[in-house]
Amino acid sequence: MEFDDVVRSTFTCRDFTDEPVPEEDLAKILEQARFAPSGGNRQGWRVIAVRDPELRKQFSELIRPTFQLYLAQQAAGESPWNTIVPSKVTPEQAAQVEITFPLLNHLDKVPVLLVVALDLSLVASFDKDHDRVGVISGASIYPFVWNLLLAARNSGYGGALTTFLVGGEEEVQKALGLPPHYCVAAMVPLGRPKKQLTKLTRKPVAEFATWDTLDGDPIGG
Ligand SMILES: Cc1cc2nc3c(=O)[nH]c(=O)nc-3n(C[C@H](O)[C@H](O)[C@H](O)COP(=O)(O)O)c2cc1C
Repeated sequence: MEFDDVVRSTFTCRDFTDEPVPEEDLAKILEQARFAPSGGNRQGWRVIAVRDPELRKQFSELIRPTFQLYLAQQAAGESPWNTIVPSKVTPEQAAQVEITFPLLNHLDKVPVLLVVALDLSLVASFDKDHDRVGVISGASIYPFVWNLLLAARNSGYGGALTTFLVGGEEEVQKALGLPPHYCVAAMVPLGRPKKQLTKLTRKPVAEFATWDTLDGDPIGG
């Protein structure tokens, strides 16, 4: 595929056909993903492909409360899980949210389920002492995850960068044999999309890129 087509059509795919992903295709996707940058080129990523149905079931259950809170905050008009504006949603309200999300209800059927972990002993977290949530550490892992999704798209597959498994990180670490300094960065389902979306909803460049200052002239006119 052309690069422009790949970036414009790599959507968040959560619904897959039953078609299996051959190991050689998965290996090729990972082979391309590994050229992602990371701080100091330390490449602290680890990828675990989870086949065990019991583990997948456990993951669905671990995700539920995190996702309920996310949906409850969204329904209350909040920007879920942000660290700036405190949430007014109570745990009791969140616990009442019903989840009808195909991905969670069919996690056992997803052709490939990857957990991407990051060895924090290799990450230069330059903003670790700032009085705000850290963002720099993520830059040593999410370019890799995104490369993986672009590579999947280029091979005719789809996938999703999801983070809601992180609510149950300790349990996931135990289940997968990850030491405590290996954080769970993402859970990525992969497979052949049931439906390929081609038009993504994104802001135009002029809405987020300016010259010199935040309120400067928009780049691109
Ligand atoms: C940091 C990050 C975390 C995300 N976490 C989740 C998640 O936990 N569950 C999920 O279903 N999607 C998750 N997504 C996918 C977003 O919902 C998706 O990128 C966004 O809605 C745009 O969808 P589109 O690419 O299909 O247009 C996440 C995306 C990012 C970048």
